[in-house]
Amino acid sequence: MRQTLTAALLSAVAGIAINTSAQAQGVEVSISCGAVGPGLELCREGVAAWEAETGNTVNVTTAPNSTTDRLALYQQVLNAGAGDLDIYMIDVIWPGILGSHFVNLAEYIPQDVIDQHFPAIIENNTVDGSLVGMPWYTDAGILYYRTDLLEQYGVEVPTTWQELTVAAETIMAGEREAGNDRFWGFVWQGRAYEGLTCDALEWIDSFNGGSIVEADGTVSVNNDNAIQAIDLAATWVGTISPDGILNYAEEEARGVFQSGNAAFMRNWPYAWAAGQAEDSPIRGNIEVAPLPRGGYNGVHTGTLGGWQLAVSRYSENPEVAADLVNYLTSFNEQKRRAIEGSYLPTIEALYSDPDIEAANPFIPRLYETFVNAVARPSRVTGERYNEVSSAFWNAVHATLSGNGDAATNLASLETELRRISRGGRW
Ligand code: GLC
Repeated sequence: MRQTLTAALLSAVAGIAINTSAQAQGVEVSISCGAVGPGLELCREGVAAWEAETGNTVNVTTAPNSTTDRLALYQQVLNAGAGDLDIYMIDVIWPGILGSHFVNLAEYIPQDVIDQHFPAIIENNTVDGSLVGMPWYTDAGILYYRTDLLEQYGVEVPTTWQELTVAAETIMAGEREAGNDRFWGFVWQGRAYEGLTCDALEWIDSFNGGSIVEADGTVSVNNDNAIQAIDLAATWVGTISPDGILNYAEEEARGVFQSGNAAFMRNWPYAWAAGQAEDSPIRGNIEVAPLPRGGYNGVHTGTLGGWQLAVSRYSENPEVAADLVNYLTSFNEQKRRAIEGSYLPTIEALYSDPDIEAANPFIPRLYETFVNAVARPSRVTGERYNEVSSAFWNAVHATLSGNGDAATNLASLETELRRISRGGRW
């Protein structure tokens, strides 16, 4: 620590750049990495390269797959002011909830490096003027489908949810008749957690039904288009999707799709690299497209997701931790992760990178979908976002489970959200 400060002072005096991390050899920092899909392995590889370059060591720990469970765990650790974890992997919806626990990374990372990233994500990660997370990768919901089965059944890629429903029914009926009892038309995320908020926001937005709470704080969720969207999704449970979908998160959906037992899947881009891996039964037989519209007057959309790296205020080595964050979120690391794990870069220039295009052509092809993704209302609802989201996913989950229709459940949700909003002031 003292060494690093000395180095920084020296460089200021002499006007020469000294690599501060190289001065701070022998420091140990810890990072929490997610283990969904290839996430953990790619994190470990990036960390190992930084260790080799700096002589520091890193303790990599994992976190629960469900972002909802992860938030609960992080809140516990951070609220206790514990310094054992230096670097947190934080969801795009958390800056307003957890921001006060993290250092301002703009004090450690050069502005020209920060400026390489999408300004909207930098803005999202800035709380009261402090950059609480460096963008690591972005996310948007997309539609996966089986090219071989669509061809076999003469089905076009669906452009509306209504078309998807029919296409899924057709392929499922054929596959069941051919003897595959475990085959389903469409898999997605129906568990009562943050992932369902993402899926259901896509249905609603695709029907022009708004985004639950609007940027001005208005609770908009109880409207006819939203009702229509959720009621349509409820018809899928037990028909084109298994009853068990009510307990599916990302990895459960991917498990069914990747083992060859579903025609369509809603998931994030990471599922592409996993589905195309050498040992994947569906390798070479999948494609991706924007999610369907809610009828011909609707729009193609996808929920904006993504992850940032943040340094704890309770860290004993914030400079070294910030150096690792800078390394992991850099151009070269994001490029490697996009090629090997199909994680979407947050650095705009990488969308025209020929190596990424050659490895995963859908990344530049769906650029418009990614940059126009619909944001969850985390900015306007701030630290109340998790309360809002859980009220929303519970209302949707009840409807999907057959406990009341969307009109009834969205009306009670509206009342509840108004209460949480303290009369729209948030
Ligand atoms: C993905 C997204 C994240 C979202 C989560 C929901 O990890 O990147 O933003 O909250 O899925 O399950």
